[in-house]
Amino acid sequence: MKNILVTGGAGFIGSNFVRMVLSEHKDYFIVNLDKLTYAGNLENLSDFLDRSSHQFIKGDICDGLTVEKIIDQYNIDAIINFAAESHVDRSITGPKIFIETNIKGTLTLLEAAHKKQIKRFVQISTDEVYGSLGPEGKFTEQMPLAPNSPYSVTKAAADLLVQSFSHTWGLKYNITRCSNNYGQYQFPEKMIPLMINNALNDKELPVYGDGLYIRDWLYVYDHCTAVWKVLTQAPPNEVYNIGGCNEKTNLEVINRILERLKKPKSLIKHVTDRPGHDRRYAIDADRIMKQLSWEPSVRFEDGLNKTIDWYLGNQDWLKNVVSGDYQKYYDSMYDNR
Ligand code: NAD
Ligand code: TYD
Repeated sequence: MKNILVTGGAGFIGSNFVRMVLSEHKDYFIVNLDKLTYAGNLENLSDFLDRSSHQFIKGDICDGLTVEKIIDQYNIDAIINFAAESHVDRSITGPKIFIETNIKGTLTLLEAAHKKQIKRFVQISTDEVYGSLGPEGKFTEQMPLAPNSPYSVTKAAADLLVQSFSHTWGLKYNITRCSNNYGQYQFPEKMIPLMINNALNDKELPVYGDGLYIRDWLYVYDHCTAVWKVLTQAPPNEVYNIGGCNEKTNLEVINRILERLKKPKSLIKHVTDRPGHDRRYAIDADRIMKQLSWEPSVRFEDGLNKTIDWYLGNQDWLKNVVSGDYQKYYDSMYDNR
């Protein structure tokens, strides 16, 4: 497998993945198909945009003709689908685009993959398809899907579509379900970069509810190495959970950010909770660790410091992404909350 179609490769995780492959696996060629929504940004690719082993194409995964043309023109062997509407809060206020991209877009890619006999289809899913946990236990791959938000419902539907194409047509696939990622180039609508950006600007940090919600934080580079192992080493038709073994409450994470930036705790403001907020996510990643010898390499404390330092060193990037529509989004989501 040498020619890969990566979708959503101008977003947070996709751009980190493409960067890793281009620098560590030089015999691969990547076509990067991205619609450049508010979350996609060519600045995320600036250090490799013109590399000869990388071709960026602006386009929509819902456009089957474009996808088929790319597969033919570049002799594509495998598709990795990162493209998605990815933010839970936006799925609550405007779910329709999530149905379009996450469900219809995945279906379009699957139809093209089947028609063109693609060797492997890797669907980047999420631990949120399993729903929410109480204080005990972890998500395993055997658990039933029980998604709660419009976002996670569309991701679960996409997972089931992938499996239906395997069952019906013999498509060879893998699904990865990872926990919350953090790291460089994450759009500041997600919790960690939003809090870093606000703290840098001495703005209030809006903590939903009691702030004791738990996420299992995964450094984005570790996620990328896991996806690579799945693409290149996994048997077909297996699902893999990917987690960082770093369960933290939101307040723990936010307090660390404040400490690193030497900002006062008085910036924390508890605001009205997200409707239907999932209490706890925790991943059992035993399968990928044992079958593919993958493990997370970055301790949360180190990864978070590296992330904060990256945002400190890339304030132009941050200023650019929060200019324009971001401010309108922020006001609509947080004003009078
Ligand atoms: P992101 O929002 O940063 O990036 C998504 C990318 O997809 C953007 O570049 C956007 O332009 C592109 N895109 C959106 N709609 C498209 C369309 N119709 N056609 C082509 N491109 C389109 O998201 P992310 O955080 O990088 O997440 C990547 C994947 O990982 C998603 O599938 C998401 O569900 C999954 N995931 C993310 C996390 C996380 O913590 N960020 C956790 C679990 C799973
Ligand atoms: P988020 O980054 O949106 O990821 P997800 O909802 O997919 O887990 O949120 C992470 C956690 O942070 C989640 O419990 C919601 C919380 N949160 C806040 O408290 N304030 C915020 O402004 C945001 C964006 C999130």
